[in-house]
Amino acid sequence: MLVPAADIYLTYRCNMRCRHCFVGPALDRATDLPTSALIGFLRSARTEWGTREISFLGGEPTLYPDIDLAINLGRELGYHLRIVSNGGSSLLRLMRRHAADDFDLAVSLDAASPARHDALRRPGSFRAAVESITVGRQQGRRVSAILSVGRHNLDQALDTLLVLGTLDVEHVNVHYVTDRGFASADMLASPQEWRRLCEEIGRSSGLPDVRFEGTFQPADRPVSCAAEQESMLMLFPDQRVYSCTMFVGLDDGHAHRWSDGSLIRNERFRHRYGRTIESSGHCPAASFVNETLPRSAEAAGCVIGCIFDKEFITARQAGQVAVPRTIDRRAQ
Ligand SMILES: C[S@@+](CC[C@H](N)C(=O)[O-])C[C@H]1O[C@@H](n2cnc3c(N)ncnc32)[C@H](O)[C@@H]1O
Ligand code: SF4
Repeated sequence: MLVPAADIYLTYRCNMRCRHCFVGPALDRATDLPTSALIGFLRSARTEWGTREISFLGGEPTLYPDIDLAINLGRELGYHLRIVSNGGSSLLRLMRRHAADDFDLAVSLDAASPARHDALRRPGSFRAAVESITVGRQQGRRVSAILSVGRHNLDQALDTLLVLGTLDVEHVNVHYVTDRGFASADMLASPQEWRRLCEEIGRSSGLPDVRFEGTFQPADRPVSCAAEQESMLMLFPDQRVYSCTMFVGLDDGHAHRWSDGSLIRNERFRHRYGRTIESSGHCPAASFVNETLPRSAEAAGCVIGCIFDKEFITARQAGQVAVPRTIDRRAQ
C-alpha cells in the first residue's frame, strides 16, 4: 500500500459549532485519539506506507491535549506537517510555542466580513482567523486557506477570496459543502451555481491561487476514485480509518480500523460501497450522502467527481479560459 499523504483527526473537541460542519454531533463527544494510536500510526505510516505528508485536523486539532507531542514526533520522523485549524486563540498560542518549528497551516475562512463569518462560526472568529494567517506568514510559514461554499455563503465566495488574496495565502482550497453532520440539504449549491462560481473565479483578477473541487464535472470525464485506489488514509479519534471523508458518518463508511498497532480491514465497507462507481459513474459516496445529487448532476450534463480531483485556477491564469485539472491527494 502506498499512501503519500495521510490525515489524522486528533480530536472531536471543538470550540465552535459551524453551521456546515460535517463532523456534526460527534463534536459533543469530545473524543481524543489515544496517544498510543497517534504514535503507532505516525510510525507505521512512515515505515510501511511511504507517507511523507501528515495533516492534523479534528474537531479543532490545536485543542488536542497531546498536540505538542504530535508536532514534535511528526517532525522527528521527518514528515512534512500541516495543521488545519479554525484559526482561533489556541492556534495562536500553539504558533507562539512552536515559533521555530517548521509546519504549514491551513486556516478556514467562510465569509468576507466579521459579521457573516462569525454568524457561521462564533463571535470573534473572523478577527482571530485573520490574525492567525498574518502571524503564520510573519513566522515564514506556508499558509493556505479553506473556503467551504454552499448556498449560505455563495454570495460571499469571490469577496472572501479577495480578502484571502490581501492576506497573502499560498492558495485556497474551495470545498463544496455537502449535507453531512450539521449541514442541511438546503445549503447545497446547484451544479449550475457551482460551475458558474468556477468560471467567475477563472475570470477574476486579484485572487490567490485556487484549488476548486471538481464536484460537478462534464459527463464525458471519467471519475477516478481515491477510495477505490486506496491512496489516502484518514485516522479518526474513534480509531476508524477512512479512505475518503465523503464516507464519514455513513454506516460502515470506514475502510479500516486502527487496532493494537495495525490496520484491520473493514470487509463490510467494500461489500456495501465497493461496486457503485462502476454502476453509477459518479463518486461512489455521493448517492449515499444525498441521493438527489447524482440526479441533479445528470440533469445538468455532469457527473459527481472525486473530492481529490481539483481544478487549479492560478492567479496568472485568471482571465484565460483553460483551467488545468489535477489529482491532489489532500482533501482539505
Ligand atoms: C472539519 S474542519 C477541521 C479543522 C478545523 N476545525 C477547521 O474548522 O478548519 C476541516 C475543514 O472542513 C470544512 N468543512 C466542514 N464541514 C464541511 C462540509 N459539510 N462540506 C465541506 N467542507 C466542510 C471546514 O470548513 C474546514 O475548513
Ligand atoms: S468546521 Fe472545524 S471549527 Fe467548525 S465545528 Fe467543525 S471542526 Fe469545529
